Amino acid sequence: MSTTPSKANAGKDSSGISFTALYTGAVWHRHGLSDDVLATDQGRWLYHLMTPFEASSKALIGGNIRTFLLQRHLIIDHLIEQALERGVTQVLEIACGMSPRGIRLRDKHPLIHMVEADLPDMATRKASRLLVSGRLGDHHQVMPVDILAESGEQSLETVVGRAFANNAPMIVVTEGLTGYFSLPVISRFWRRLAQLMQQRPGSVYLSESYLMPKQPLLRGSLKSLGGILGAITRSDVSFHFLNDQEAAEHFAACGFPSVTVNNPTDFYRRLPIPDSRHDPMVRVVEASS
Ligand SMILES: C[S@@+](CC[C@H](N)C(=O)[O-])C[C@H]1O[C@@H](n2cnc3c(N)ncnc32)[C@H](O)[C@@H]1O
Repeated sequence: MSTTPSKANAGKDSSGISFTALYTGAVWHRHGLSDDVLATDQGRWLYHLMTPFEASSKALIGGNIRTFLLQRHLIIDHLIEQALERGVTQVLEIACGMSPRGIRLRDKHPLIHMVEADLPDMATRKASRLLVSGRLGDHHQVMPVDILAESGEQSLETVVGRAFANNAPMIVVTEGLTGYFSLPVISRFWRRLAQLMQQRPGSVYLSESYLMPKQPLLRGSLKSLGGILGAITRSDVSFHFLNDQEAAEHFAACGFPSVTVNNPTDFYRRLPIPDSRHDPMVRVVEASS
């Protein structure tokens, strides 16, 4: 796997985001959702470092990063299961990081074709961990992708074509990715994905989105935190939408004919997700072709 950015993506480098996958990976592991093969020392260290901040956010505002991570992760899993029940058998998880979803899905559904994809360095890291645990094979692959690449080996179009050389429907997941890009930049990715999904009717795209909170104090604090995270990850951390309707309309305008914006409150007591004290800030977008 090449670690050189593709020519088509010259000047755009979002690899500063990658280390955040170690934190989310540690959260999945701590909550019994992951496999030891995906646990990292850096993730464990970040988990400890973040614990006082997470605990004070929970006490002060009734929710924290871990709350919305677990909400989004388990709701996405649930919606994947529904799509698999409808007969879809191909899953592409873009920006997979240390997500254990591929392992869990293949354990539960040995007949599905799972492709995990991420920037080249992270893809190499993930592939080596899956390889040592004997999980890589024709039906569980890892590929390098760069959602900013407009053409070339790492572009979305090439990766989808390589992953699934057919016109059968696919489930595409991006978790923890889109909020690191401005709305115009990520919308370009969404439009390209919608086009690919049109060629495969019955496909579904699952992703989370963070709504800008209504309360001015919370809004101000989140904007500041987003600014800090953006500086650390060298990215444009963004809250794209004010409400569910705005999100649904935007995805429809990007070319997804059917869009549902799922609020975690609809899954309380149906899924083992933590409650938020107020309206959760995360939503799971389900956009179909
Ligand atoms: C917050 S992590 C999320 C990882 C995983 N989905 C999870 O929820 O645990 C963000 C991931 O996005 C990946 N990423 C960043 N820029 C990307 C790009 N241009 N194309 C594909 N993946 C990218 C990073 O390498 C990292 O693995």
